[in-house]
Amino acid sequence: MNSVSSQNARVLSGMRPTGRLHLGHYHGVLKNWLELQHEYECFFFVADWHALTTHYEDPSIIPESSREMVIDWLAAGINPGSATIFVQSRVPEHAELHLLLSMITPLGWLERVPTYKDQQEKLKEHDLSTYGFLGYPLLQSADILIYKAGRVPVGEDQVAHVELTREVARRFNHVYGREPGFEEKAEAAKKKMGKKNAKLFDSLKRRYQEQGDQEALGVARALLDGQGNITLADRERLFGFLEGGGRVILPEPQALLTKASKMPGLDGQKMSKSYNNTIALRDDPAEVEKALRTMPTDPARVRRNDPGDPEKCPVWQFHQVYSNDEVRDWVQEGCRSAGIGCLECKRPVIDGVLAELVPIQERAKEYEAQPDLVRSIMNEGCERARDVARETIDEVRHAMSLVML
Ligand code: TRP
Ligand code: SF4
Repeated sequence: MNSVSSQNARVLSGMRPTGRLHLGHYHGVLKNWLELQHEYECFFFVADWHALTTHYEDPSIIPESSREMVIDWLAAGINPGSATIFVQSRVPEHAELHLLLSMITPLGWLERVPTYKDQQEKLKEHDLSTYGFLGYPLLQSADILIYKAGRVPVGEDQVAHVELTREVARRFNHVYGREPGFEEKAEAAKKKMGKKNAKLFDSLKRRYQEQGDQEALGVARALLDGQGNITLADRERLFGFLEGGGRVILPEPQALLTKASKMPGLDGQKMSKSYNNTIALRDDPAEVEKALRTMPTDPARVRRNDPGDPEKCPVWQFHQVYSNDEVRDWVQEGCRSAGIGCLECKRPVIDGVLAELVPIQERAKEYEAQPDLVRSIMNEGCERARDVARETIDEVRHAMSLVML
């Protein structure tokens, strides 16, 4: 596996602008991002081009959806001081890399991505027999590789896209990482680390290449990471040299699989806008309370003294997200014995949801009141992202001989 470990600490993820986010997004994705932003250098972006691949007929809602989504991210606690928040279409380097990667990507790789046929089936109302839609996962590869991201938090359905990204990166490095005189350049780079380190590098490389010793690989990578006085290009050569390939220009990312959210919708199905069963992060608390009070319960409990079964009740699924063991025991016992009423049972859930929404909605209000602040957060994020993206595209252009004589 080719990966430049110094850059593995970078996390990248994107979301298509779907407008206001709900508790399903919060529990499924955003809470995960909140943790990652403290541990890694994070880039989170609005995938507006990806939205266009399926909704090209009606793009007019994209700007507002994008802004509202970013406000929800900020409200959820994404901190623009630790994470870079930006909009895909404002970093045109993604598109250039997408184009360049398209040169080496076999059509079959794209046609075989499972989401390709699935989505065409699912979204029958859109004609998705377009070039852009076929390229959806390759655009995603460009999103990832332009930042040399090492980790990509995604749900199950997106793992195949990260897998494709790895294959494309491997192919790219294989084709363009083999510069003339690679071995000589790598040897020269090695010497720049000093005699002792060069010797250590050689012995670790041998242990890895001859005995497949993963630990030696790890130590060697750490050794390279610790070298302050070699250039980025030399480091990439040495990473490739270590693993017996060419220069690693585009490191292969890893999918960080996000566990499926346990967050149920108001009807017990998965919470999703298309099921009309959501609680949005910025829904009015009185409305949220009302929605929870009127949500269905075990249909067997027609009257207050009919016993029920929590397994047949969507409220029980909410308890699994919001309640501790003690409350859950109280529900199990009280429901089965008809000792508690359904409204009584919902109380801790209602309190839990409302309490969770309080800080989110407070922050949302602050950002809603300061559209300039939101705009400047996004502008700054776009600039920061672009600085990184420019560096990569520069290397890619050189590797592909897109230079002026
Ligand atoms: N395709 C992703 C989704 O639908 C969004 C996305 C676009 C993305 N580019 C990405 C996710 C890059 C992770 C990395 O959810
Ligand atoms: Fe559902 Fe609770 Fe009513 Fe049982 S008591 S049916 S778990 S709401």
